[in-house]
Amino acid sequence: MIDTLAAIVVRPSRDSDVEPMLAIYRWHIRRGIDDGVEDTGTLQPDDLKDRRKNLRNRKLPHLAATVRGEVVGYAYVVIFRKRPAYRFTVKHSIYVHHDHHGQGIGRLLMQALIDACAGSGFKQMIGYIDAENVASLTLHERFGFARVGLLPGVAYRYGKWSDSVMVQRSLGAGVTAPITVNSRLPAA
Ligand SMILES: CC(C)(COP(=O)(O)OP(=O)(O)OC[C@H]1O[C@@H](n2cnc3c(N)ncnc32)[C@H](O)[C@@H]1OP(=O)(O)O)[C@@H](O)C(=O)NCCC(=O)NCCS
Repeated sequence: MIDTLAAIVVRPSRDSDVEPMLAIYRWHIRRGIDDGVEDTGTLQPDDLKDRRKNLRNRKLPHLAATVRGEVVGYAYVVIFRKRPAYRFTVKHSIYVHHDHHGQGIGRLLMQALIDACAGSGFKQMIGYIDAENVASLTLHERFGFARVGLLPGVAYRYGKWSDSVMVQRSLGAGVTAPITVNSRLPAA
């Protein structure tokens, strides 16, 4: 158990975090509670290293949470869609080690991810959550994500169809502020 929240450190992920991050991811995949994007479980260390490099080059946050130096969770975003019009919108993922659920790690990762995305100039965050994933749905609700869609029967795993809930949150002034030429994100 973690004594205090102060023991949790959230920082940009490193190459040396890849193995523990993959172990966390694979455990959740086996339990079938992932968001359904990559439920084949075939993600390899080099894939994750490449993904981190790509994200870093594009100023997309990829964060790790540690307790006494051990990676206990991670969170990152990708651009929502590849076409340039969507460059201000990101889609996020967040995973906490199963031995450390309910200790405030998800909350700290989510806050850090929101802050990092807002700081990078992104305007909207979008997530897809399995409709039975109460912990994730509640976490997102706590952080002001609105349920903007229900995608019925979009995932099939472990012999059953699952619905996904789409959630969305504005960052900073969201779409109410004009885009300026000073924006840190690339122009379309
Ligand atoms: C969802 C997840 C990231 C939450 O992380 P966590 O570290 O356990 O969450 P925290 O302890 O920081 O709790 C933060 C908030 O989440 C909600 N929450 C967490 N676990 C919950 C549960 N079992 N039931 C209901 N709400 C829960 C609560 O609102 C909680 O805030 P509160 O304690 O002030 O009420 C974690 O359960 C996880 O990794 N799940 C598997 C992977 C996953 O589903 N990722 C999301 C895919 S979209």
